[in-house]
Amino acid sequence: MSKVYVFDHPLIQHKLTYIRDKNTGTKEFRELVDEVATLMAFEITRDMPVEEIEIETPVTIAKTKVLSGKKLAIVPILRAGIGMVDGVLKLIPAAKVGHIGLYRDPETLKPVEYYAKLPADVEERDFIIVDPMLATGGSAVEAINSLKKRGAKNIKFMCLIAAPEGVKAIQEEHSDVDIYIAALDEKLNDHGYIVPGLGDAGDRLFGTK
Ligand code: PRP
Ligand code: URA
Repeated sequence: MSKVYVFDHPLIQHKLTYIRDKNTGTKEFRELVDEVATLMAFEITRDMPVEEIEIETPVTIAKTKVLSGKKLAIVPILRAGIGMVDGVLKLIPAAKVGHIGLYRDPETLKPVEYYAKLPADVEERDFIIVDPMLATGGSAVEAINSLKKRGAKNIKFMCLIAAPEGVKAIQEEHSDVDIYIAALDEKLNDHGYIVPGLGDAGDRLFGTK
């Protein structure tokens, strides 16, 4: 069963409040999403493997740790996932970036894939899929399908706000994928929007409506 990690760090919760606020404009919304993505990246990388090396400090020889060079890739679900990429890359600058384009059909709420481009060495990489919203879970499940179809084996899913329905969908379809979120909200409304949520993440990030 997928584990669910809620990052309830005060800084993340504080920034998320202003992300939710409808009076927060595009510029500030974008900056806050970027900052929260960086803070979440710090938490999500907690289990990164390290190895011991020997270095010389000005005082003595010391055995100390460095990252053991695990290959990572960040995969935003277009469009809104793009808003989280730079924030993650601030901490993991050597990560490759793949893209998966999905939109929700407004009638059926089902995801439709329109683009996929991943790093060539898919099978050797660990993947972090990023998207601000996990609502019905249709887009996340489809993005994970798309990665697995191309050979990905180790996948994490990271979002700002999740609905219980979306968490359940990932747990049912992809029990090997752990879920990292800043907040677990109450429910979905009749249009598939998360309540209380933040509205349409893509529109708020890019100023479209
Ligand atoms: C939003 C969001 C997710 C999806 C979540 O994207 O960024 O990808 O909805 O909903 P789900 O869990 O019910 O699938 P949207 O489809 O609105 O596309 P956009 O990012 O291009 O605006
Ligand atoms: N997609 C969004 O952008 N917001 C929601 O609340 C649900 C899906």
